[in-house]
Amino acid sequence: MKLFNVYPLYEIEPVKGQGEFIWDAKGQRYLDLYGGHAVISIGHSHPYYVQKIAEQLGKIGFYSNSVHIPLQQELADKLGVLSGYQDYSLFLINSGAEAVENALKLASFKTGKKKVLTFSKAFHGRTSAAVEVTENMAIQAPINKNSHATFLPFNKLEGIEEHFLHGDVAAVIVEGIQGVAGVNVASPELLKHLRGLCNKHKAVLILDEIQSGYGRSGQFFAHQHANIKADIVCVAKGMGNGFPIGGILIHPDFEASYGLLGTTFGGNHLACAAGVAVLDVMKSEKLIENAVLVGESFIDELKALPSIVEVRGKGLMIGVEFDFNIESLRKNLLFKHNIFTGNSSNKNTIRLLPTLNIQTDSLDMFIDALKKETSVVV
Ligand SMILES: Cc1ncc(COP(=O)(O)O)c(C=O)c1O
Repeated sequence: MKLFNVYPLYEIEPVKGQGEFIWDAKGQRYLDLYGGHAVISIGHSHPYYVQKIAEQLGKIGFYSNSVHIPLQQELADKLGVLSGYQDYSLFLINSGAEAVENALKLASFKTGKKKVLTFSKAFHGRTSAAVEVTENMAIQAPINKNSHATFLPFNKLEGIEEHFLHGDVAAVIVEGIQGVAGVNVASPELLKHLRGLCNKHKAVLILDEIQSGYGRSGQFFAHQHANIKADIVCVAKGMGNGFPIGGILIHPDFEASYGLLGTTFGGNHLACAAGVAVLDVMKSEKLIENAVLVGESFIDELKALPSIVEVRGKGLMIGVEFDFNIESLRKNLLFKHNIFTGNSSNKNTIRLLPTLNIQTDSLDMFIDALKKETSVVV
């Protein structure tokens, strides 16, 4: 059987990872400034994380959600404390799209409504409701086109309220920082405005922090820079440092009932062990503080480079926009300088999502490589 060919691949086979580095089968080391697609939060193969998962696997790896799994509560307790969302409830699933899917479903259950306000260039996942609120028609199949979503211009406040006036809005969904779009920060004004409108019109405010959450922005959640609280927060990616896990944090006003939501794999022992290990390391190694410190000085250094049009982002979620298409620059960074970076739907923007424990000397390697490459391109 061959693999369904949906991913264009680099001729690289990683076989080992440590911290912010990975090694290929030929022994070549690479600096990973893409965090394996925004996933690696505490560093590749962190020893504490490896130990915790291995220990758990030696005890029990999985049982269904029909029994007590105290690791779920340990994860919820630690997540509540570190994120400042202690009074919310946690529902566990396996991926980002599933988090969004369940968040939209809960919003619709609660309000009895179907309309979702979302934003230009938003990315929320590829499953049915999630892809409907994603502004990329190329990845919507006919079965996904159900007219539930209204796309609004990102960071433009005027005119939003009129969309509530028909009385059919279940939810507003917004990324704390748009990732796939090329790192566009939701302004505090937008988030505060949405908070006010959702309160006024009894709609559910969903913050998609799947990419921008878990300390990446220098706060636990990017929307916390705006000092607001969401009704539902979606998490995944950095939550498991590579182990598939996702979750939604749910406001106490939502009432749970048996069977309302459910999943086979969500909240399994291994995923929870991974999730707990990530939070333990984030706390003990002060990774959110590191994202602030290292991220801020890195952003300042990037801003001083002549070939760069704009540097966007917060902490260690950074978009670097050039005045040219970055496709060949990324290839050169990878194959000449052995540095992984990310792209985005903005063809001129490189996306940087390094591990949260990265230090300045590794980022200097990127600055040096960039200087060499852009002096050639420009
Ligand atoms: C903001 C955001 N939401 C949702 C998703 C979907 O997550 P997953 O690929 O785990 O389904 C992504 C993935 O890139 C994302 O960046």
